[in-house]
Amino acid sequence: MPSKTVVITGASSGIGKSISKALLNKGYHVIGMARRKERMEELSNAFPDQFTALEADITDADAVLQARELILSKYDEINGLINNAGIGFLGPLEDAPLSQWHTMVDVNLKGLLTVTHTFLPSLLAAKGHIINIDSVAGHEVYPESVVYCSTKWAVKALSMGIEKELRGRVKMTNISPGPVETEFSTHTTHERKAEQMKDYFKNVLKAEDISNAVVFALESPQHVAINELTLRPFK
Ligand SMILES: NC(=O)c1ccc[n+]([C@@H]2O[C@H](COP(=O)([O-])OP(=O)(O)OC[C@H]3O[C@@H](n4cnc5c(N)ncnc54)[C@H](OP(=O)(O)O)[C@@H]3O)[C@@H](O)[C@H]2O)c1
Repeated sequence: MPSKTVVITGASSGIGKSISKALLNKGYHVIGMARRKERMEELSNAFPDQFTALEADITDADAVLQARELILSKYDEINGLINNAGIGFLGPLEDAPLSQWHTMVDVNLKGLLTVTHTFLPSLLAAKGHIINIDSVAGHEVYPESVVYCSTKWAVKALSMGIEKELRGRVKMTNISPGPVETEFSTHTTHERKAEQMKDYFKNVLKAEDISNAVVFALESPQHVAINELTLRPFK
């Protein structure tokens, strides 16, 4: 059983919850961060000795710093960081509230940067592993998903940059899922787009497909770095 410690953002639902479960079942110590702490209770109850639920909004740099202090008071090192928290408000450019564009940048990019900046010294000290949950939207640009795609392209650029600059010092894996059945598609408020997404998100990937990929990347031998994985529904 590995005694490694992994921090994951967005552990309260969907892909993040599934990754947390998979790592807990493999014996990792997992620190889940999300705003809805109550949604992490199931994991806290099932894995009281391995799972720590921290209520933290990743757009709040002080809250992320506090989370790090708490984690370091409990664990000697942090071996992995999974940047998973993210949000997508899809719809036509000209109908979008500016606040939704700003929220996507604040969470998907600035929040991810805040968490990465905060935990990087510990990850470097442990020769650890960063896994960014990007998207196929970070490889292509879709109409009516333009700003979401912009944030995910930025995540890919960051992953590529970290890989090049910190190669040999920290492992970097960028995981790019296509559509996955989670709460993700329910955040869109544009009525026509939300309706369209209901259909589009039928018979797609499951959160477990992504957590399997995370475990595969995380458990690769020390001399192997899996830098990019793309998963799409086969249909
Ligand atoms: N589902 C898909 O089709 C799909 C495809 C490709 C990539 N992705 C990416 O996968 C990641 C996970 O999404 P999901 O599909 O699992 O969606 P989800 O079920 O909506 O989960 C999103 C997670 O992000 C957290 N989060 C959102 N804003 C946050 C904030 N300000 N601070 C802390 N945590 C925050 C949420 O927790 P709280 O609300 O409790 O804070 C939740 O745990 C995202 O980065 C998404 O872009 C999803």
